[in-house]
Amino acid sequence: MPSTPSRTVVVTGAAGRLGRAACRELTSRGWHVRAFDRCPSPIGESIVADLADAGAVAAALRGADALVHLAATPDDDDFAARLLPDNLLGLHNVIEGARAAEVPRVILASSGQVNFGQQNDGPWPVRVGDPLTPRGWYAITKIALEAAGQIHARVSGFPVISVRLGWCPRTSDHAEELAASFHGPHCYLSPRDAGRFFAAAAEHPLPPGHHILYASSKPVEIEMLDLVPAKNLLDWEPLDCWPSGATDDLSG
Ligand SMILES: NC(=O)c1ccc[n+]([C@@H]2O[C@H](COP(=O)([O-])OP(=O)(O)OC[C@H]3O[C@@H](n4cnc5c(N)ncnc54)[C@H](O)[C@@H]3O)[C@@H](O)[C@H]2O)c1
Repeated sequence: MPSTPSRTVVVTGAAGRLGRAACRELTSRGWHVRAFDRCPSPIGESIVADLADAGAVAAALRGADALVHLAATPDDDDFAARLLPDNLLGLHNVIEGARAAEVPRVILASSGQVNFGQQNDGPWPVRVGDPLTPRGWYAITKIALEAAGQIHARVSGFPVISVRLGWCPRTSDHAEELAASFHGPHCYLSPRDAGRFFAAAAEHPLPPGHHILYASSKPVEIEMLDLVPAKNLLDWEPLDCWPSGATDDLSG
């Protein structure tokens, strides 16, 4: 029987917490993963480069069937030194690279922090159409990412998903911070659920357009994030609940 040629996905930020989860799941489903990161990636074909290098980004995207864009400074930080190059210049280079390469599907990592005020104060669940209440400049870079996704979907005609991810701790200190917070356990995202989400986003049949979704694991008690759009669009539902998987494969 002839073998099915494997599909190629570019995962940026592949060496990071969520990147490793995405690469693991996509690889296990038979995808060829081009793992783009400024650090070497343990899973997939490691491409060590910076998002600021537009030529390297464009080369990585050539011939790809899908893009999962995760590389970023993943929280509030020095604006000029970190957020501007990683989250905004990087976003520009990735979107322009995907447009030039005609990558037929783009998945962008946004954050629940775009609606941080409502996450803390309610009303819950926070729905994708609710007015934005960003936490700070990091969240503002994610609002820019969603706007870029919207424009890219319109101009390219290809589907784009901007996913507002729940909280997946990167270190044991980060996990303790989550446990001590009010909202953390209700919007926790396990690595396994994240990996399954990115695989569904890459594989499930999709209509064109820009799709904004929330993705988290099952809430401990309060349903803070509306997961119905992800179920409707991708037939994806979380399996885990805080703290399942929180300390698996932690970097420190
Ligand atoms: N973990 C969470 O709780 C969470 C929640 C919401 C959104 N997100 C988003 O998900 C994505 C992944 O987050 P994470 O928690 O895995 O973070 P992480 O820090 O573990 O991984 C990010 C990766 O991106 C790489 N990277 C950053 N800037 C780069 C650049 N300029 N060029 C090349 N590589 C670069 C880093 O080397 C790192 O490996 C980010 O976009 C983040 O904003 C994460």
